[in-house]
Amino acid sequence: MIRIDINRLSEGQKLNSPLLDSRGRLLIGEGIPLNSQMVKHLKELGLQFIPIEVSGYEDINPLEVISRKIEMFMKKEANEIFKAARKTAMINPERIISAVDCVMNDMLAKGKTGIVVDDLRTNKDFIFDHLTRVCIYSGILGTALGLNDLRLRTLMITAYLHDVGMALIEDEDILSGSYVTDTPSYNIKEHPKLGRDLCTRAGFPSIINQSLYQHHERIDGKGYPRGLTEKDITLYAKIISVVNVYDILTSPLPKRKPYLPNEAIEFIMALSNSAFDKDILKTFLKKVVPYPPGTLVLLSDDQICVVKDCNNDLPLRPILKTYAYLDGEQVKYIDNPSIIDLKNNLNLTIVGQVDSAGKIIDYENSAISNSLNDIDGEGSKNKIANKISKKKIVRFKRGLKINDKSKP
Ligand SMILES: [Fe+2]
Ligand SMILES: [Fe+2]
Repeated sequence: MIRIDINRLSEGQKLNSPLLDSRGRLLIGEGIPLNSQMVKHLKELGLQFIPIEVSGYEDINPLEVISRKIEMFMKKEANEIFKAARKTAMINPERIISAVDCVMNDMLAKGKTGIVVDDLRTNKDFIFDHLTRVCIYSGILGTALGLNDLRLRTLMITAYLHDVGMALIEDEDILSGSYVTDTPSYNIKEHPKLGRDLCTRAGFPSIINQSLYQHHERIDGKGYPRGLTEKDITLYAKIISVVNVYDILTSPLPKRKPYLPNEAIEFIMALSNSAFDKDILKTFLKKVVPYPPGTLVLLSDDQICVVKDCNNDLPLRPILKTYAYLDGEQVKYIDNPSIIDLKNNLNLTIVGQVDSAGKIIDYENSAISNSLNDIDGEGSKNKIANKISKKKIVRFKRGLKINDKSKP
């Protein structure tokens, strides 16, 4: 499998994994040659990268932290929790706890740890996907931080419910994620309080209610609802605030394309010590997967490789399978791919992500919005802009027109 840019997708290519909607219904099956309607449909869904089957790379599979079945179950449950909260202003704690137990057991049994984005998620019903992913990501980060099972469970319940207060806000934009804007409305800013009150009524322990209430606080006191500072924010709220922002940045939203994982990581790191706790960020950096399996990357020696697998705790040193190499302005493809484990090749580094034609993916193309203005200070935004423009110079030099090996 290779993750290819949606703009390079063409008829005849086959998905490596099935595309399901948030209710678990099959939209496009795996291994079926795509027709023009399907390609059009995938583009309309706001997807950015598509995992497709490529001969010689069948041994590369997406990193699954939990099984698809459990993930779909979590999304459906999130939908039910919202429906019940809207109708009765109540939520059912037993049902929520058993859903979280289910995902926790599956995660621990699989033993794969890595905060990895899922390409085949759509921008329909964003909020249910978001609650599910924030729960899973929190579980991974919490495990890496050494939380025992009891605390991990508390963290994951809080993460799963962190935006449940949104259910009580009458706004059509909530399901799709259109509510993520530069300046959240007064209504939207009420969701931590509404969520805390819902969970208090349902009889959850106060640490859950308190942590949920604090998930938009920042350690510099510039968050909401109370403007608390570091010492008054719970560990659970600090963990959730990081993965919450990471998931929003990397999600396809109606008004913007997702950030690439490495761009989202840069964004978050720039907020170390202002929005986020630096010790939590250190662990987050070890667990987040900037180049998921299937990603094409350019190495410092001009080889283009596909990420095959992740090396635990070394996110920038994955195991690679060679794909092509740059020869001046030309991309030359390789017939007999070989394996490079970057853990054992410290002289090589990943320069950046490339598309299937060897062109470095330009930051501008991802049309980054400043949708998280409320969590970002002006200073950090400028810092990121400077870094990005430096990278662009390198990228423009690499612009290449060549034949694309991944085409059928
Ligand atoms: Fe929130
Ligand atoms: Fe959220």
